[in-house]
Formats: sequence, structure tokens, C-alpha cells
Amino acid sequence: MVFVADPFKFEAGIYDSVWQRDYRREAEALDQIFEAFSVHRVLDVGCGTGGNAIALAELGYDVVGIDISPSMIERAKRNARGVDNAEFLVMDMRNLTFRSEFDAAICLGAASSHMLTDGDLFRFLRGVHRSLRNGGIFILHAYNVSAFDRSALGKSFSGDVVADFGIKARSRVRLTLISEEPFVVNWESFWFVFDRGSFRVVRRTIPLRWYRMGALKNALTSSGFVVEGVSSSLLHYPVFRVSPKDKNIYFFAMKP
Ligand SMILES: C[S@@+](CC[C@H](N)C(=O)[O-])C[C@H]1O[C@@H](n2cnc3c(N)ncnc32)[C@H](O)[C@@H]1O
Repeated sequence: MVFVADPFKFEAGIYDSVWQRDYRREAEALDQIFEAFSVHRVLDVGCGTGGNAIALAELGYDVVGIDISPSMIERAKRNARGVDNAEFLVMDMRNLTFRSEFDAAICLGAASSHMLTDGDLFRFLRGVHRSLRNGGIFILHAYNVSAFDRSALGKSFSGDVVADFGIKARSRVRLTLISEEPFVVNWESFWFVFDRGSFRVVRRTIPLRWYRMGALKNALTSSGFVVEGVSSSLLHYPVFRVSPKDKNIYFFAMKP
């Protein structure tokens, strides 16, 4: 038996309760963008529990979702029951094995924050580039460091209350700065978990990278992409000017 370490097993159990998004609306926005690029086959990088992949599959796209976490992939497969055209694989986004197979790739929900070094970032971007056909489009979400609230560093604040399959949890979160360049913060959370009569505290520390937008644009360009647009929202493409205060940035890049 091969032992596979799962860095996000705990998060996989609570993801769908804590980080709810309107995946259907996002899929409709993606659908409008994809129309211009004749997209049929989509790669979802760092797909988590499959929210984007499943919503796109329901619109008729053939989707492959990959994630490093076997628990996330297990959840995604469970969430996709009855949806035939979504496939899910355990794979590290730094070692994508596809070759010119996809018309589009997406990397949403800040999965890019897990690329903690430039080495990781470039392996990821080059792998996405290899996975796309010529003329394919890549939509990449990232956190913008200039919108980071430094006054929050070191302070604790209450997080989410979760109810998931009989488990109730409340979290307390603290952010600490790990490095300025690249800009990495530890997202340290304590989860107070009530699980069918028992109580436990789970401590999670996840380093997350926030990007300098110019540097990320340059990384895309030197990985072979042409950046077509940048927007603070997936729903408003293309907007070429974003405010330094926008936390969420979406790059729309093409493999020429
Ligand atoms: C915040 S979740 C986003 C999930 C999904 N994209 C969404 O928008 O709902 C980040 C995901 O990135 C995955 N991840 C982190 N490092 C990864 C890596 N090296 N390769 C593939 N997936 C990774 C995590 O397991 C997690 O599911």
C-alpha cells in the first residue's frame, strides 16, 4: 500500500461549509469568456471539492479537476455523482502531466497562494502552459499583496461557525508574516470542534502567498503566456485597470 500524505485533509471536511461561493454564477461568467475561445475541454487546477469543475460540467464542458489532496478529490467525486463529464485526479499542480490537451485552464479560489516559492510558481505556470493547446486560455486567481491589511498581522479574530455532517466548529484565526519577498503569511487557525458529543481543538497553520501583480504578470509572460486582461472580478472581464485595494485579481492569459 502506498501512503499518500494529505496536507488538506481537515480542510476537505469543512470546505463546502466554510468557503461557500456561487459556483454556478462563476461558471456562467466563464462560459461567456470561453465562447470566444471555442472551449470544450477544461482543466481545473487545485479544484478542491470540485465546485467550479462540476458547475462547468453541468454547462456541458468536459472537465478534469486536479488537486494535491486525496480527501478534496474524494469529496469532489462525491459532489459530482451523476455528472458524467467531470473527472477528478490527485495531482500536484507543480507537476502537471498533460500535453496540449485542454482548450482552457482555470485556477481559482486562491489555489495559487500555495505556490510559496518562485520555483513552485514557475513549475505550475509552465505545466499549465504545456497542458493547453495553442490558442488556449488560462484564468488565474491570485491575492494582491498591495491590498493586504498589515494592521491585521498578529491579531486574532473569530472565524467561521460550521455545521458539516454533524460536526460543529468555530475557528479563531491569526495571521503572521513569514516573509516579505515572496510575501507569505501564515494563516493560523484554531478550530473548536464539537463532533457528536466529543470536543477537540484542531490547530492548523497554512502558509499563503500574496502576489505583487506586476511580478505575477511577468511570471505569466516568461512562462509563455500573453496576458489579455486583468480584472478584480471574474464577472467583469476584461477590465485592464484594477485598484491596488482590490484583494482579488484575475489574470486572463492566452497560450499563443
Ligand atoms: C482554497 S482551495 C480552492 C479550491 C477550488 N479551486 C475552489 O475555488 O473552490 C485551494 C486548493 O488548492 C489545493 N492545492 C494546494 N496545493 C496544491 C498543489 N501543490 N497541487 C494541487 N493542488 C493544490 C488544495 O488542496 C485546495 O483544495
